[in-house]
Amino acid sequence: MFFLILFGPPGSGKGTQAEKLLVKYNLKHLSTGDLLRGEIAKNTPLGLAAKAFIDKGQLVPDELVIGIIDDCLKNNPGFAGFLLDGFPRTAPQAKALDNLLELKGQSIDLMVALDVSEAELLKRLLKRGETSGRSDDTNESIITERIAEYHRKTTAVADYYKSADKVVLVPGEGSVDDIFARICSVVDKKMVKASA
Ligand code: AP5
Ligand code: MG
Repeated sequence: MFFLILFGPPGSGKGTQAEKLLVKYNLKHLSTGDLLRGEIAKNTPLGLAAKAFIDKGQLVPDELVIGIIDDCLKNNPGFAGFLLDGFPRTAPQAKALDNLLELKGQSIDLMVALDVSEAELLKRLLKRGETSGRSDDTNESIITERIAEYHRKTTAVADYYKSADKVVLVPGEGSVDDIFARICSVVDKKMVKASA
């Protein structure tokens, strides 16, 4: 099983690139943002609790997020691995994930970190906000808060995997196809090494 984390700030293109990577490498998508929005759409207690944080641009508390992960990592025959998008997002989430994977005799193989300037992130998310209907894209102050949360709590996750030498930084500006080619070249190298 190949475990790939696609990492980067809000609007860096994780979801866009994930769609293409899933097909190319036959990976199962695990996006905590999508899972939480699914819970909100179904009006579950978890969705209601998460919505209060998401609408303000803040991260949802670790215990709520960690609780939904275990199930998703189970029972996925037919896939070559997992693509984690938007998770882990705090150091405690990264530790919880490592513990969970250790129990399964697995570990994270690679973190691809998308590097995008703050001006470009803001531009992309404000543009998407015109049509997406996502509550957290609707105004600049919420988007700015999401980026601030990323700096406060999420960059520590990259440091965590850097110490295990698992992080590759990829320039995340330019055309979607060019960025995809850059990511694939990193993933291919890692897969060759893993199978050598
Ligand atoms: P989540 O859903 O994970 O959102 P995010 O990380 O804030 O970022 P996005 O999904 O908006 O951006 P993306 O990097 O996927 O980029 P995309 O491809 O969409 O999280 C939402 C919220 O849920 C969080 O704020 C938090 O509250 C909660 N949450 C989720 N996971 C959590 C966790 N683990 N712990 C705690 N809380 C959690 O692209 C963005 C836009 O740019 C699109 O319009 C796209 O078309 C465009 N675009 C993409 N690539 C390019 C390009 N190369 N050039 C120009 N435009 C581009
Ligand atoms: Mg996304």
